[in-house]
Amino acid sequence: MLELNGITKRFPGVLALDDVQFQLKPGEIHVLFGENGAGKSTLVNVMVGNHRPEKGSYKIDGKNMLGLSPAVARKNGVSAVFQEFSLAPSLTVLDNIWLGRELTKFGRIDRKRMRALAQAKLAEMRTNLPLDAITSTLSRAQKQQTEIVKALLQHARYIIFDEPTASLADVEVQNVLRIIKELRDQGVGVVYISHRMREIRELAERVTVLRNGKYVGTIEQDEIEEDRLVSMMTGRSMIELFPNVRHMPGKEVLSISNLATESGGVRDVSLEVRAGEIVGLAGLVGCGKGRVGRACFGLESVVEGNIFLKGVPVSPRSPSQMLKSGVCYFPSDRGAEGLCLNRPISENITMSDLDAPKTGKWGLIDLNRERERAQRAAERLKLSTDNMGTRVEMLSGGNKQKILLARALLRNFDLFIFDEPTVGVDIGAKAEIYQLMRDLTEAGAAILVISSDLEEVVHISHRIYSIHEGQVVADLREGAKTEERVLASFFGKQPDTETQEIAQ
Ligand SMILES: Nc1ncnc2c1ncn2[C@@H]1O[C@H](COP(=O)(O)OP(=O)(O)OP(=O)(O)O)[C@@H](O)[C@H]1O
Ligand SMILES: [Mg+2]
Repeated sequence: MLELNGITKRFPGVLALDDVQFQLKPGEIHVLFGENGAGKSTLVNVMVGNHRPEKGSYKIDGKNMLGLSPAVARKNGVSAVFQEFSLAPSLTVLDNIWLGRELTKFGRIDRKRMRALAQAKLAEMRTNLPLDAITSTLSRAQKQQTEIVKALLQHARYIIFDEPTASLADVEVQNVLRIIKELRDQGVGVVYISHRMREIRELAERVTVLRNGKYVGTIEQDEIEEDRLVSMMTGRSMIELFPNVRHMPGKEVLSISNLATESGGVRDVSLEVRAGEIVGLAGLVGCGKGRVGRACFGLESVVEGNIFLKGVPVSPRSPSQMLKSGVCYFPSDRGAEGLCLNRPISENITMSDLDAPKTGKWGLIDLNRERERAQRAAERLKLSTDNMGTRVEMLSGGNKQKILLARALLRNFDLFIFDEPTVGVDIGAKAEIYQLMRDLTEAGAAILVISSDLEEVVHISHRIYSIHEGQVVADLREGAKTEERVLASFFGKQPDTETQEIAQ
């Protein structure tokens, strides 16, 4: 048994954990639940020996573990799939999977066996990863899968999954959930962190809720109800997740015709997004949906086809040029591409708007104005921090996402491209992000949402394009866009009703 009691951990200015208790039995799936910044990842870092708490006790099988190093935790059978990945970007996928635990034969690294074991685990997960690719070239979802394989190959007795499915699509999620259940059946103790209610319902035997670093309570399987969990988490009752967004398609803002990218990820994509509407782009990991967004912002080379903004072809494209043309793009990998982690919150929010006269005069930045404007945007997203000078790396996963999205509020954009906008954000924050999308749409912006979250993409978009192997395979409108149909189209199957014409 893994047991923590009275754990207290303080960071400069925040009491991240305040007298928290947690218990994990072998063969149990124990969900850890709470708002962004509640302290979940901090508790994980205590369990694996990354953080040393000021107070409290930590025992594994009765043995005192406090002050243990990550290596000792590993020896005692604890491994983790981290929320903010622990992968070395310049190493290959295979090297990352075995980093620090390389297998040897006659004193030499046994790559053959390392590869074979990794392959076998991938087959078990029914997925594929380019084992020889440099990790930094992978998509966020592929990094997530690498992180999972890495943890599974440690044959741990206790495994902690910190939002392992946050950027995976439905089918891949199912594979991860299946593997977690198999682990439980083999007697492994699993800590599972997720904001997705469906997964919690499917997996949890117990749920422990944290709020503001404090232990709120632990409930058993038969007491798990969404309303109850949300009210334990927030102290409020149920919230409405998806707002009703009026569909008032106006002028065409983005139009893509027969797009193919140099990477080969996008082969033939045509679509359009009009002012006043939210268009979803759905598909499995690796189907190319993210690359479509990247190509629109000039982050991916185009070899065929055209991209038009308000009827005018844009080429050559670069992010700064697209920004000037009124396009705002939010990458899915906020750590690697979206944020400057070692810079303060205020700079990260105003970053997309430095050339605007509001920021300063004569090429200088007015720091007071910068802070004020950042503060206003942060408040709009109910970001719970009053210090705009805090470095972004200090924030919890979900709050980092809010900083990224706050940029949308700084100037008027015609088109917003969101790639996995709600990865890792709690239900309350999700609702706020959807409200932000509604407000932007109703103010006349065009929105393209690229998402692996089926529920999200079906509920928030007015129309959905489904992508399979770099091609649009379905174009689903109001009424036709059910989760079943979108899911069926992921496999290249035509949905059972006729694909409808694009709304004129
Ligand atoms: N290394 C750090 N330095 C300073 N503060 C930190 C550090 N890590 C976390 N914090 C702070 O501790 C608090 C708890 O953060 P934590 O990451 O544990 O939240 P979380 O529950 O995992 O949230 P999320 O759902 O967003 O991932 C937050 O206020 C965060 O800003
Ligand atoms: Mg976290």
